[in-house]
Amino acid sequence: MSGRLFRLRELGVLARLGIAGLVITMLGGTAASGVYLHMHHGDRDQREGLTIDDVRAHYHGIVSPSPLLESLESGHPETLGDRDRALLVEWLGGDPASLSLRYDDLDLGADAPAEIIAVGCLECHARSSSGNESAPEIPLEYWDDVYELAISKDIRPVDGEILAASTHTHALGMASMGIAIAVLALLTSWPRVLVSMLLAGTGLGLVADIGGWWLTRMNDAFAVVVVAGGLLFSGGLSLLSLLVLVDLLLPKPKAASTETQG
Ligand code: HEC
Repeated sequence: MSGRLFRLRELGVLARLGIAGLVITMLGGTAASGVYLHMHHGDRDQREGLTIDDVRAHYHGIVSPSPLLESLESGHPETLGDRDRALLVEWLGGDPASLSLRYDDLDLGADAPAEIIAVGCLECHARSSSGNESAPEIPLEYWDDVYELAISKDIRPVDGEILAASTHTHALGMASMGIAIAVLALLTSWPRVLVSMLLAGTGLGLVADIGGWWLTRMNDAFAVVVVAGGLLFSGGLSLLSLLVLVDLLLPKPKAASTETQG
């Protein structure tokens, strides 16, 4: 292609080393932000692991009552005694931080939630339960099973001012990074179609990701846009970086002037 200033392959060793160092550091930074996301936002929805609910929770907030509490208050199961029901309801309504402590508190004896559940629920809610009336697909055998259903969620979205500050730093930082890699990738010897497609994904991904933060704030259905955009951006950026790194390893062309295609 005409009009190209130079190609990375024409650079000397020192310039190549320098660019390689910068690109590798940037890739490291991208990986680190992925790890940070997991550690910082992984339990945003009060459940472990980074899922789309964490994105919803962060930008939009989530309000959903404990399914266990709802089901007990609706009178399920009919066989449960009033006193046991009241004990479970009281336990679920208590301090969320001590839910697990009081779950199998030995001091409570047969009044401990774990005991009440074992006696009143497990005939139908064990993985091995069978029969028409049972629900083995909703197990309540272990604390992890129960916890998933016990927790009420009332998560405030991120503060608008913080989101604005975060948009400011991320938009400027990530876009600058993207532009730098874009220029480098366009100076490689890789087919222009390949570079252009990756570039389109990277750029549109970033717009979707950061724009999606604000859209999700208004409507949590946009959380998928944030996730898809983020994946597209980080995937595109990483691939473009790899193309640049590989290109830096290529030998200098013999006669750069006879070169016609780009
Ligand atoms: C006689 C069998 C039986 C017993 C005993 C029983 N359940 Fe269930 N439970 C079911 C069935 C069947 C379902 C599924 C109902 C449905 O899908 O509509 C269910 C559903 C549930 C659900 C899910 C409700 C939802 O909205 O998804 C919860 C929570 C639950 N049970 C809690 C309990 C607890 C706590 C106990 C004990 C205190 C208990 N169950 C005792 C049969 C039972």
